[in-house]
Amino acid sequence: MIKYIGFVCVLVVLAGAERRFPDGFKFGAATAAYQVEGAWNVSDKTPSIWDTYVHEKPHVIADGSNGDVACNSYYKWREDIELAAELGLHYYRLSISWPRLLPNGFTNIISEDGMRFYNDLIDGLLEKGIEPVVTLYHWDLPQNLQDLGGWTNPLIVGWFKDYARIVYTLFGDRVKTWITINEAIAVCEVAYTMGAFAPGISSPGIGSYLCGKNILMAHAAAWRVYDEEFKPKYHGKVSLTNLVFWMEPYSEEFIEEAELAMQYAAGFYSHAIYTKEGGWPPTFEKYIAEKSKREGYPRSRLPAFTEEEKKFVKGTHDFYAVNYYSSRLARSLQPGETAGLWPFFGAGEIDVFLDVHPDWPQADNSWFFVNPPGLRKLLVWLKKNYGDLEYMIMENGYSTSDRDLNDSKRIQYYQDHLEQVLLAIQDGVNVTRYTAWTLLDNFEWTDGYTSKFGLIDVDFNDPSRKRTLRKSAWFYANIIETHSLDDINTINSFNGEY
Ligand code: NOJ
Repeated sequence: MIKYIGFVCVLVVLAGAERRFPDGFKFGAATAAYQVEGAWNVSDKTPSIWDTYVHEKPHVIADGSNGDVACNSYYKWREDIELAAELGLHYYRLSISWPRLLPNGFTNIISEDGMRFYNDLIDGLLEKGIEPVVTLYHWDLPQNLQDLGGWTNPLIVGWFKDYARIVYTLFGDRVKTWITINEAIAVCEVAYTMGAFAPGISSPGIGSYLCGKNILMAHAAAWRVYDEEFKPKYHGKVSLTNLVFWMEPYSEEFIEEAELAMQYAAGFYSHAIYTKEGGWPPTFEKYIAEKSKREGYPRSRLPAFTEEEKKFVKGTHDFYAVNYYSSRLARSLQPGETAGLWPFFGAGEIDVFLDVHPDWPQADNSWFFVNPPGLRKLLVWLKKNYGDLEYMIMENGYSTSDRDLNDSKRIQYYQDHLEQVLLAIQDGVNVTRYTAWTLLDNFEWTDGYTSKFGLIDVDFNDPSRKRTLRKSAWFYANIIETHSLDDINTINSFNGEY
């Protein structure tokens, strides 16, 4: 009998242990400057490409809205910090608006107000014991740098490096975790392949690839500045964060197609940094070289890295950060079929058809289908391809179109994905952080305010932008407090369906 009780106790402890996050694992939430700050033309701030885009083409935004005021966090940041503290966040991921800090994009003029705003925000977080995790670039390029070609001009590598150096100089004494670029795939593919995001220039397979190479070089330059000039005294960590959709083979027959799609989806912005050989993923590079030749181009549309450039980019990381939301099924194109534009609904460039499984429920965005196991598979794939690194989830979250405070689908999404994080950890992936997207409902790019990802509701009809915690906020706070998923049923009366 005693033996039996002992056995049951061990089982209970083990089961409990499985749902506990490792000691030192950190939970946070993220936002981005353009999506929350507002104050788009306050003081000496100049327009970013998003200011220009939404003002010149309001019709491309679902509700014709813009980020002029957004959550008004430029003025309400104290309240945001209070809310972050109420949730018990270990860290808050924010981004710096380049044109707010450097009004002409260059470093000869630094905005006093821009500096003051980010100093206050960072200090305010630290006072509450919340670590600031700072992104240098979350899509709001100074418009005057766009006028000079933006991310398609190789000179941007130097411009970004100079900007990074200023940011590290101003805030590096207090910020220890840095993201150089948020989702290069959105900056280069959604902007230049689909022409859907600012600057809204459609140049698939040309502009998108120039942007891709320059952004990798710019990331590397910003990493190296930190490594050489700041790391010795500040001891922080720098990497970029990639949006990666998990690419599941349609069936056994399409493993190769799914792998090629992964090398495009994850590899395009990872291989050069995280592998020993560096440069583009070889299967992808070969595919584009052959395709370019067939199309009559004198050389590959994918700009090559010189050996020197490969060396420059290789190894420029201190961790691997990933934003995960959704998955796709990959198979080869059937005769007569065309694949849509990359990245959300097609992989035309590599002639792979991307689809979704009928069992994956759709959230309230056109691209968003829910597949929690994709997160675990992705983390395992990343470790296999890029090594036993520190992995950080820098975004994960769920969208609704309504303002329901009893947001059971969001709760379910978080629960299911956090379970997959625990499973990935059991698989041996060293995941150290989980970041909820997002703290507050905010300007969801071309979806405007129609799509809500917040743990906290914001009333965009109220000039004071009243914030109200949703049930998911309490759910997340409970997980943070207990450091486990053990207690979730007490708070979650969810019926189990998306
Ligand atoms: C990724 C982006 O980084 C963020 O800005 C966006 O709001 C979320 N995904 C949701 O689409």
